[in-house]
Amino acid sequence: MKHKIGILGFGTVGQGISEILLDKKEYLKKKYGFKFDIVAVADFIFGNVYNPKGLNIPQLLKEAKAGKKFTQDVVDWDNKKIIQKSNTTVWCELTYTDLNTGGPAIDHVKTALKSGKHVITSNKGPAALFYPEMKKLADKNNIKFMIEGTVVAGTPVINLTEGPLAGCEISKIRGILNGTTNYMLTEMEKGMSYEDVLKVAQEKGYAEADPTGDVEGYDARGKVTILANIVMGAGIKIADVACKGITGIKPKDIETAKKQNKRWKLIGSVEKKAGKITASVGPEMIDLGHPLAGVMGAINALTFTTDLLGDVTIVGPGAGKIETGFAILTDLLAIHRNS
Ligand code: HSE
Repeated sequence: MKHKIGILGFGTVGQGISEILLDKKEYLKKKYGFKFDIVAVADFIFGNVYNPKGLNIPQLLKEAKAGKKFTQDVVDWDNKKIIQKSNTTVWCELTYTDLNTGGPAIDHVKTALKSGKHVITSNKGPAALFYPEMKKLADKNNIKFMIEGTVVAGTPVINLTEGPLAGCEISKIRGILNGTTNYMLTEMEKGMSYEDVLKVAQEKGYAEADPTGDVEGYDARGKVTILANIVMGAGIKIADVACKGITGIKPKDIETAKKQNKRWKLIGSVEKKAGKITASVGPEMIDLGHPLAGVMGAINALTFTTDLLGDVTIVGPGAGKIETGFAILTDLLAIHRNS
């Protein structure tokens, strides 16, 4: 079967997965029998394009990188129509995250699932706010709603707990869940100013469209909510997660930590105690000898405390164009294996 892929949002991640699919087309076919065309792209800046036989992706990438509107295969269909009427079999929802309403992504996800098309997303809005409803809708239509890219980019987290760690009960998850702030704290320790390093994090594609979500801890709070609900079955809302960001950390605080042989990290945690699950996000001074203290730059790390294996830690990239694009690829391949 040939997968007919649609992409909603041709920003950092949309371009990332497109580049990966372009570069690896032959490898994916040879190694996994994974054949595909990218037939639809919908972007609120560049426009909506559709070609049932496959779009000219190098051309789209060239135009998007130059900040120009798409010129080939342009359609005047809105997002709802392109999702429903195209010959797509799977949609990658990669628009910006809104953790208050989940929109506009949640409308895209619902429309695609109701049309019997798989959905893969790195957008935390639908996953943090509406996962149970979307999973139910997908199950009802015998299709997949996949969200590996919502937590720690392509570094396996959801897949790890649902695959290799299945059978272990997880009582605690603790770690660094936001690449932007970990990168900022790393560079601020070397002497760079908060404003300058935030600008670099945006240029590198780590930060959200509105970086307030990163520095205030809201992005990490969304991920903590997803982990609490999907991995630990907590049934909590975003508002239940206590949250503090890194905006209050000043050069003098970094010096204080250094003097105590410590380092600031923004830590997200979910813990089950006496049957009750609590979750939080906040900056902590970590001893330099602690494994999390050595995790620098845009790298993330999560430790799962399990009943059968004790602590299992995964460390890897938590943000970035190719790193998050890879998460979309893993979900595409999972859909392919199931098809
Ligand atoms: N802004 C996020 C981060 C991107 O810095 O971790 C990945 O969710």
